[in-house]
Amino acid sequence: MASQRSQPLFVALLLLLAASSSDAASSPEADVLLQFKATLSDPTNALKSWDATKSNPCANWAGVICDNDGKVSGLRLEEMSLSGALSDIGLLDGLPGLRTLSFIKNSFEGPMPEVAKLQSLRALFLSSNKFTGVIPENAFEGMSWLKKLYLSDNDFSGPIPMSIAGLPKLLELGLDRNRFSGMIPPLKLNDMKLLNLSNNNLEGSIPESMKNMKPAIFAGNKGLCGKPLQAACQSAESIEKPVPAAPSTLSNQQPVVIAAVAIFIITGLIAVVFLMPRQRHGADDDQLSQPLSTSKSSSKEEPCTEKKLEEGTAGSECGSTRGRKPSASPGGGKDHDHARLIFVRQGRERFELQDLLKSSAEVLGTGHFGCAYRASLSTGHSMVVKRFRDMNRVGKEDFEEHMRRLGRLSHTNLLPLVAYYYRKDEKLLVTDYVAKKSLAHALHGSRAAVKSTAALDWPTRLKIVRGIAKGLNYLYEELQMLSTPHGHLKAANVLLSDSFEPLLADYALVPVMNQTPAQQFMISFKSPESKQEGKTTKKSDVWSLGILILEILTSKIPTTVSPQGKEAVDLPAWVSSVAEEEWTSKVLDPEMKAGNNSEGEIIKLLKIGLACCEENFEKRCELEEVLDKLEELKEEGSSAAEAKTGDDLSLVDIN
Ligand SMILES: *[C@@H]1O[C@H](CO)[C@@H](O)[C@H](O)[C@H]1NC(C)=O
Repeated sequence: MASQRSQPLFVALLLLLAASSSDAASSPEADVLLQFKATLSDPTNALKSWDATKSNPCANWAGVICDNDGKVSGLRLEEMSLSGALSDIGLLDGLPGLRTLSFIKNSFEGPMPEVAKLQSLRALFLSSNKFTGVIPENAFEGMSWLKKLYLSDNDFSGPIPMSIAGLPKLLELGLDRNRFSGMIPPLKLNDMKLLNLSNNNLEGSIPESMKNMKPAIFAGNKGLCGKPLQAACQSAESIEKPVPAAPSTLSNQQPVVIAAVAIFIITGLIAVVFLMPRQRHGADDDQLSQPLSTSKSSSKEEPCTEKKLEEGTAGSECGSTRGRKPSASPGGGKDHDHARLIFVRQGRERFELQDLLKSSAEVLGTGHFGCAYRASLSTGHSMVVKRFRDMNRVGKEDFEEHMRRLGRLSHTNLLPLVAYYYRKDEKLLVTDYVAKKSLAHALHGSRAAVKSTAALDWPTRLKIVRGIAKGLNYLYEELQMLSTPHGHLKAANVLLSDSFEPLLADYALVPVMNQTPAQQFMISFKSPESKQEGKTTKKSDVWSLGILILEILTSKIPTTVSPQGKEAVDLPAWVSSVAEEEWTSKVLDPEMKAGNNSEGEIIKLLKIGLACCEENFEKRCELEEVLDKLEELKEEGSSAAEAKTGDDLSLVDIN
């Protein structure tokens, strides 16, 4: 009985097998190709042969290349008048043997297709199409087999994405005839057989490692300078002279060194601008030849404290201008309306850049984007001048509009932008000076600097967290069009007033920062969604807030701020790895000196911080929820500051 029953099943199976081997269209590879074809526009019917009724894609489908095992290994769809956006290129993931893709000379358009979904690709040719826009930084991430990449003759713009520099096997790279801008990233050149960067808008000095390449590779980029081109890099050269070791290290050490050199160049520019007021009017060119008088700043003990806090490195780039040789570098004073500050805030004392620079300039710190200085006006009022170099994302008009937008913002917990100064390759942002320095300094600076050990007790820390969240929420309300209204929330960008009211600084700069440095250094780009999916969302700032809350409660430096720092800790992972009962003894900063009765509240805040650090941004709480939860927290027992004799009365809440 059993055998009789199984017979029909057996026959059915046989039929099924026969069907699948004779009908190619139902083979998975043919299906994939037909699905892909359906996403293309093919006005000349060039893919007519891609037909469900034709037996084998390897035998007679146009442009399909197969390997010896009958698997599709390549598509060569060149000059077929095809169009569309290739937004479903990920479908080709269903072709496990796919190695080569060529769409040369068609009319494909839209942003860079998501080719990183095809991780086994060896060669990709997108040349001579109509692709546009900025390529996401991680567009080629994980393509560890890619040997040839041609994006030539499209309309791509923005920086060359860093993920290209990270391709381990790349041999040929064609980026010519686009509108790529910014500096040339540190490409791995060891095995590079062909490189073409010509006819773009690239700028800055050509990396030392490329100085022996053919000049034609770089032709047609007006802003590039240095060998092998004729145009020497003026500012960089005059700065590099006193440091003969710098050029030879450039080639090997990639981003760190590039960043260091960039800072060095910035330093030179600083010297230039800070010199201007010391000069009599007239000979512009001579202004550059003047050595920086040994300024007060360079005799300060720690000219770049913030820098040290941020990166765990002991560098004082801001002070290093001192060693600059008084070498002439002609032609530098190209911009003649240099001294014009544009005020974006009503009812503020007006002054000129010269007024600021006449006074002694004290270096406050240096970050990835430039240095900050304190300058005192004749009225005794101090201002902070922050210098940015990588702020060329948008043109002058858009930049100015954004600055005006920031000038309209007003909130207790925001450091107001007062004025700005625009020049093509550098921007100065002028804000008020806040005496207490940054939260990073208060948390991680030498404890002696924070006068009272009671300064950062629990009520104060709670107040700081609440203030930060309120300031952030205000940004969310006022700058709804920005995907990350703050974008760079970290302890070094939170200043503390005399009464420990936090003031957010360096907010809302993502829209004007150059993409590459922004993605490298800005905190919202360190969020899980940015790392995994290459995007930031409204919740990326919530994540930054979470990290900051954990930092405030533990006084540990987070890895997001100091990736290489010896003392840096992956805070969410570390806190979650410790059992909750042990949080008080192991995780919390002992200097918080909480009374027993407030411990419960502290733990609640720690949990809020962890919730903000939820990896999945969709599950992560909204900022409003965080605000509500923060409001529910209690200070409980009296503040240690209040209980003290009163030499620190300013700590008692005054708002
Ligand atoms: C580089 O691209 C340009 C067009 O921008 C082209 O004329 C030149 O032949 C290319 N060079 C190489 C070596 O492919």
